[in-house]
Order: sequence, then structure tokens, then C-alpha cells
Amino acid sequence: MLDQQHQRRIDDLFDAMNEANESFLGYPFAKGFSYEPLWRFMKLSGNNFGDPFGPETYRVNSRLLECEVIEFFARVFRAPPSEIWGYVTNGGTEGNTYGLHLGRELYPNAVAYFSRDTHCSVSKAVRLLRLEHVVVQAEPSGEIAYEDLAQQAFRSRHRPAIVVANIGTTMKEGRDDIEKIRRALHSVGVEEVYIHSDAALCGPYAQFQSPRTPFDFLDGADSIMFSGHKFFGAPIPCGVVLALKQHVQRVLRTANYVGSSDTTLSGSRSAYTAIILWYAIRSLGVEGIKRMFEQCEGLAAYTVDALKARGIGGWRNPSALTVVLPPVEECVRTKWQILTQDVSHVVVTPGTTKGQINALVEAMTIDR
Ligand SMILES: Cc1ncc(COP(=O)(O)O)c(C=O)c1O
Repeated sequence: MLDQQHQRRIDDLFDAMNEANESFLGYPFAKGFSYEPLWRFMKLSGNNFGDPFGPETYRVNSRLLECEVIEFFARVFRAPPSEIWGYVTNGGTEGNTYGLHLGRELYPNAVAYFSRDTHCSVSKAVRLLRLEHVVVQAEPSGEIAYEDLAQQAFRSRHRPAIVVANIGTTMKEGRDDIEKIRRALHSVGVEEVYIHSDAALCGPYAQFQSPRTPFDFLDGADSIMFSGHKFFGAPIPCGVVLALKQHVQRVLRTANYVGSSDTTLSGSRSAYTAIILWYAIRSLGVEGIKRMFEQCEGLAAYTVDALKARGIGGWRNPSALTVVLPPVEECVRTKWQILTQDVSHVVVTPGTTKGQINALVEAMTIDR
């Protein structure tokens, strides 16, 4: 039991977080889900450490549901589940680090390539993994510049390449086409290529975007990750990483050699987040995810139109949920928690309302 003073502090914190939750538009975190039926699990010490598909001794876990989550997304990303291995991570950053780790274990002599619009978790990971890397130009849309990729790779054409493809850049939701990436590398003689798709936000809906950008296993990805707290609005940060089993097994042999069979990056992992993601996919199904994406997409289109009607230049990539804005004023940035670099953006995730969009457009208009 807390004393009165500490109870007040926690009540105040709840009120502040609750209020902030109603007024953010600049981060890709969905607000439209209710995971309240899962609260009872919070009194358990659930821990999914280790390989979700491996043997267990600690049974207060949700690995069975975790495996179902992995199998579900293996199908979504068009690979037979028997050919895919994966786990529920602590977030997208871990997924990117895992993908790059796998690439480096397969090709220790590789050079890593990614565009300058890539999320900072990738630079963090290449530094951690001591991977030699090259930052490639990006187009104004946020998509990687394939010609620059080819030119950069030509210099190291006798070495394997590990490429992080953005399936939705953080600021503009620009999408890199992994078929074009392979072609660009092939054209300069790079033979061994590992592609990791960073689908942090778009993973759950990228298959429904039009035009669809090649990004998944059938298109030639070696690993794919997305964040669970973004489109699915998990109240605890988490993510999913999937990779071709043949790659993981090669790494596993290396790991076994040094006496460890652990396949995941982290030690203890939340049992709760796997349950949350399982709950999301089982309550929505593929059709529900599609419907939810379409609703958001409609509102993103409305946002661009509403901005244009007020003479404000907003735009988005084809069927993206991210609307790119000119940098917004400080007061708008603070009120709506709008991430701003050279541009600002609004991300229309599940739970975003037309009322919030109208209020933002109004605030941007007054400000001019
Ligand atoms: C494109 C992209 N990749 C990776 C990440 C990192 O994901 P997380 O915050 O779940 O670690 C983000 C986060 O915004 C992102 O936008």
C-alpha cells in the first residue's frame, strides 16, 4: 500500500499520461486498442526467456502463443512457417540488431548499406556489431537512391552486402523496394546479399498498400521486423523479428560450438507482450488488420486534403499513414507532440480521430 503522498503522485502521473495520450499525433503509436481483458496476467511473473520453439523448464510463460504469433506473421510475410524462425522482441531496435547480427554471422566480411533516412537504431546496431557500413542517399520521398547504392557497392563489389531496407522510414514512410535493391547490387557484381526489412510501423499492413512494395520473404527478404507498440498499440514496447530458419540454424551451429544454444538477443523476455500481440492478431485476423489499415488510410488522405484546403503543403507516399508537413511551429509541436526534423509529420494510426486532425489543421492555420 502506498501512503497518501505517493498515491497522489501516481494518480497525478496517470492523469498526465492519460491527457498526453489524447493529444499526440506525431508518433506512430496506435491508441485504438483495448487490452484490458489481459490485465489479470500482470499478477504473474511471466518470462519467455530463450528460444520460444525450444525446450522449457520455467513454465510461467506464454511461448505457445508466441509461436502462434510467429507462425501468423510468417504466413503474412509469405513464407511457410516451417521455414521461418522468430521471436517477440523488446522492440524494433532489437529486431534490427538481430537482423544485422544474423547477416554479419552469415557474412562476417560484409559491408552494410542503408539510406540516410534510416532510423537511428540501425546506426546503433552497426556500431555495436562493428559492421563496416555505408550510408546511401535517399530520394525526397524517403526511398533509398538505388543508383547511389549501386555506385557505393561497386567499391566493395568483392565483398558481401547486408542491406537494411526501410519498409516505411520514420519521418516520411518512404519504402525501399528489395527487388530493386537486389538488382542494383547484382548490376555491379555483388553476389552475396542479405536483406533485412525494417518494417517497424508498416509490417502489419505493408501487404495491403497500393502499389505494394516488394519487402517480404517471397520477395527475397532474409529477415523482417516490426514494432508491436506501433500499429497494434501494445501498451508495453515490443516487436517481432522473423528470419529464414536456414540462416538462424547456421548461426545456431556457431552458437552451439561455443556452448550456448540461445537464439535470442535478450535474456529475460516479457511473457505479457507475446500475449498482447496474440490477442491483437486473434481478435482482428488478417481481414480486421486490413480494415483497420483502410480506415487509417482514408483518414490520412483526408488529412492531406484538409491541409491543402487551407493552403498548407502536406503530402504522403502512396497509401502511407504518415502525412509529411512543413516544420510546424513550437506551440503546435508541443501540443500535438509532433516529431520534427527537416520536416514534421503526423502518423494516422488506429485510434486517431477526424476531430484531432481538424484541431491540428486549425492550429496550423491560426499559426500562419
Ligand atoms: C523505421 C523505424 N525503425 C526502427 C525503429 C525502432 O523501433 P523501436 O522504437 O520499437 O525500438 C523505429 C522507431 O520509431 C522506426 O521508425
